[in-house]
Amino acid sequence: MQADDRVSCLKTDLLKSCGACRVLVGVTGSVAALKLPLLVSQLLQLPGVDVRVITTEHAKHFYNPAEVSVKIYSDSDEWEVWTQRSDPVLHIELRRWADLLVIAPLDANTLGKIANGICDNLLLISLCHWQTCVVRAWDTSRPLLFCPAMNTAMWQHPITAQQVSRLKEFGYVEIPCIAKKLVCGDEGKGAMAEVSAIVSVVEQYLQKPNEPSQSTCMSDHTVDTSGTEDK
Ligand SMILES: Cc1cc2nc3c(=O)[nH]c(=O)nc-3n(C[C@H](O)[C@H](O)[C@H](O)COP(=O)(O)O)c2cc1C
Repeated sequence: MQADDRVSCLKTDLLKSCGACRVLVGVTGSVAALKLPLLVSQLLQLPGVDVRVITTEHAKHFYNPAEVSVKIYSDSDEWEVWTQRSDPVLHIELRRWADLLVIAPLDANTLGKIANGICDNLLLISLCHWQTCVVRAWDTSRPLLFCPAMNTAMWQHPITAQQVSRLKEFGYVEIPCIAKKLVCGDEGKGAMAEVSAIVSVVEQYLQKPNEPSQSTCMSDHTVDTSGTEDK
């Protein structure tokens, strides 16, 4: 595809968005990324919600893009769309487009990168720009939700709690992982929250974007999703 065509596709994709609430899903290289098609389809069932996805390269290993009905953006789009000064910058356009960002799953690698301000891919660059918005109006205007997912041993490593706390200090909201038998065979905490729980939290934040402390939220930026289980 020619560069001009890529720019026009990007503009058309974001402009044609018909939803009143625009949800950007960030997906990283946890095995829980295999739930991306389910997550996107359930989000699209919320009234007035439109969805786009930013994927890391490793996350691509876990889902079939043909099963995801919305545009999935990745690093190559970021670099291919920009060839000259007049071209749009993808991570800026996506940041402008979205009302809410939910990173599901958030793997240990990207968790560590976010906690340390690293921005070496499309998702993380978008986050860095998001953080500059956070300085002025993050809590009230644009929620950022994150759903950790990793092996129990990784979850229990002391650095994980430090990094999760760091993200909550930024004003981001944790949708906590749950305990169950993991795909690797281990049993314990570290599994991504159930998709139905994630969608329910997204819905609450979209309904009341100006109320960061909602009924299901605890004061320390962790959402209580206990009792929610996928069917
Ligand atoms: C089969 C498989 C499953 C994985 N599952 C997880 C996981 O659940 N959580 C995690 O933190 N890392 C997991 N990883 C490791 C990440 O994919 C790896 O750290 C990768 O560098 C993450 O890159 P990203 O954060 O850019 O997506 C898994 C790797 C493989 C091969």
